[in-house]
Amino acid sequence: MSTSASTTTVPATERLTLRPWTVDDAAAALDVYGHAEVTRWLSPDMDQVPDTAAMRLLLQQWIAESARLPAPAGRWAIQRNTDGRVIGGALLLPLPPGNEDLEIGWQLRPDAWGSGYATEATHALAAWAFSQDVNEVFAVVRPGNVRASATVLNNGMQWVGETTKYFGVELQVFRLRVADLDPAAPAGLRPPGRSGD
Ligand SMILES: CC(C)(COP(=O)(O)OP(=O)(O)OC[C@H]1O[C@@H](n2cnc3c(N)ncnc32)[C@H](O)[C@@H]1OP(=O)(O)O)[C@@H](O)C(=O)NCCC(=O)NCCS
Repeated sequence: MSTSASTTTVPATERLTLRPWTVDDAAAALDVYGHAEVTRWLSPDMDQVPDTAAMRLLLQQWIAESARLPAPAGRWAIQRNTDGRVIGGALLLPLPPGNEDLEIGWQLRPDAWGSGYATEATHALAAWAFSQDVNEVFAVVRPGNVRASATVLNNGMQWVGETTKYFGVELQVFRLRVADLDPAAPAGLRPPGRSGD
């Protein structure tokens, strides 16, 4: 791993740009993390963010955390290219307690669910991570989070098992390796004849 990812913008996809958070994103971020239907699925436990001031404080923590972490770890805002709107957040973070496994994760504002944005963000972020001397990333999904488990399977991730070792809560673990990435490309990026099975 090399230096901090805090100022790194992940190579853009057709519809999305993953760029570092700024505190000025607080209002848009609150439209993501101010919803209990988003935060209820996150690990470690995260309360619904109550207001813009609390969101600004959290963003300050995330920005500082990203600055401390070696690349490719970090947190990014997911910005839609057509209107420049921040529709969610994405992360690559070392999983406790060993900090050896690298988690890939995403949170979208509820009105942006169901359009394939998480799949597109996953592909961009994983491809970037794999260009940074990382060979595998892990998604950790709470049992019952069917949208997240569908997303990871759509992205070619492989089921690893269930564990409480990361955050003390039961989590389903999925792994994406370099070799899994290309077959999991978003539909528009697939070679002719590959529908995505
Ligand atoms: C989990 C989460 C990130 C999934 O986001 P998403 O963008 O809806 O997920 P996907 O990228 O997999 O998209 C899936 C849907 O988009 C559709 N889709 C896929 N590609 C598409 C495209 N190019 N255009 C339009 N729709 C598309 C799929 O058919 C699917 O539709 P369905 O939900 O009606 O079956 C989102 O629900 C969320 O933020 N949840 C709360 C936080 C959370 O659980 N995070 C994960 C913790 S592990």
